[in-house]
Amino acid sequence: MTKKIILGIESSCDDTSAAILSDGYILSNVVANQKVHQEYGGVVPELASRAHQQNIIPVVNTAIKKAGIIKEDLSAICFTQGPGLLGSLLVGSSFAKSFALGMNIPLISVNHMQGHIMAHFIKEEKTDKRYPKFPFICLTVSGGHTQIVLVKSFEDMNIIGETLDDAAGEAFDKSAKILGLPYPGGPLIDKYGKIGDKYKFTFGKHKVGQLNFSFSGIKTSIKRVIEKGIEGNPNFINENRDDLCASIQYTIVDILIKKLIKASKELGINEIAIAGGVSANSYLRERLLKLKDKHNKEVYIPKFEYCTDNAAMIAISGYYKLISGDIVDQSVTPMSRLYF
Ligand code: KG4
Ligand code: ZN
Repeated sequence: MTKKIILGIESSCDDTSAAILSDGYILSNVVANQKVHQEYGGVVPELASRAHQQNIIPVVNTAIKKAGIIKEDLSAICFTQGPGLLGSLLVGSSFAKSFALGMNIPLISVNHMQGHIMAHFIKEEKTDKRYPKFPFICLTVSGGHTQIVLVKSFEDMNIIGETLDDAAGEAFDKSAKILGLPYPGGPLIDKYGKIGDKYKFTFGKHKVGQLNFSFSGIKTSIKRVIEKGIEGNPNFINENRDDLCASIQYTIVDILIKKLIKASKELGINEIAIAGGVSANSYLRERLLKLKDKHNKEVYIPKFEYCTDNAAMIAISGYYKLISGDIVDQSVTPMSRLYF
């Protein structure tokens, strides 16, 4: 049988990415990060779409070259339809639509958050590679979303809990901003938090019912602790940076893990995965591994490079959609809010 060679394109936020997969195995995964947003303390949508326009052709070309294929080898092209920034999504979707039309091959649309989950199914040659078994629970944590998803199959996923306000990544980034750290602050909180005391500061209580989350109160609480600290000592942040980061990280991760345990108990499902940018967090990964040892769960953590936004996760989603015949036509449009 001829191999299914898929080009995936991701442009939902501030990373332009293209990946090539052959029968589910990675041939290339190219990610161009946009540095332009750093000085603004967050993603500026207009600048993001302009940067995507500049990046998209070189990134796709590099992905094809690195994969060692030619464009005529492609079986299908898939892209992120949403959710995300509309201007950014438009660049990736317009490019994918034109390319598929020009090549006369199937076009496939992918939900970005489902893509994060599907990153677990990127195939690897090594024999000890473990894939989550259906049904499993996935905590999907990124800069824009925080969801607990019940994954019954590649096509059947239900959100059973989500944040009522800020996403977990947003909580990391906004806390980092309060500490004067550049955007995105999540990885820096992780870095400094590794050497700090996680019990030094406490920030509010998480009181949201069911399997939902709320992070805006914690952000306010962090702000108050810091303002009070600065009142007594103008050098408070500098002197306590690592402990503040460790405590912030502990607070956010503890909430996430407790809700995962609750979901697992309520549903009687012991297969647990994490996905999305925040799943790169070393303390979250450490706590998840403890669930395996202490609570007898089967846990799945994506490879570091497939946690934050990347096109490989879009391409693997497209691969399984192509197999099941789930393709779209040229009338497809990007959607900044896209549910599943
Ligand atoms: O999935 P992603 O790359 O983009 C979105 O779909 O939003 O997630 C980005 C988010 C940002 O909020 C970033 O700060 C956070 O993931 N993040 C981290 C870490 N690496 C990325 N948060 C905590 N610790 C990390 N190591
Ligand atoms: Zn994402």
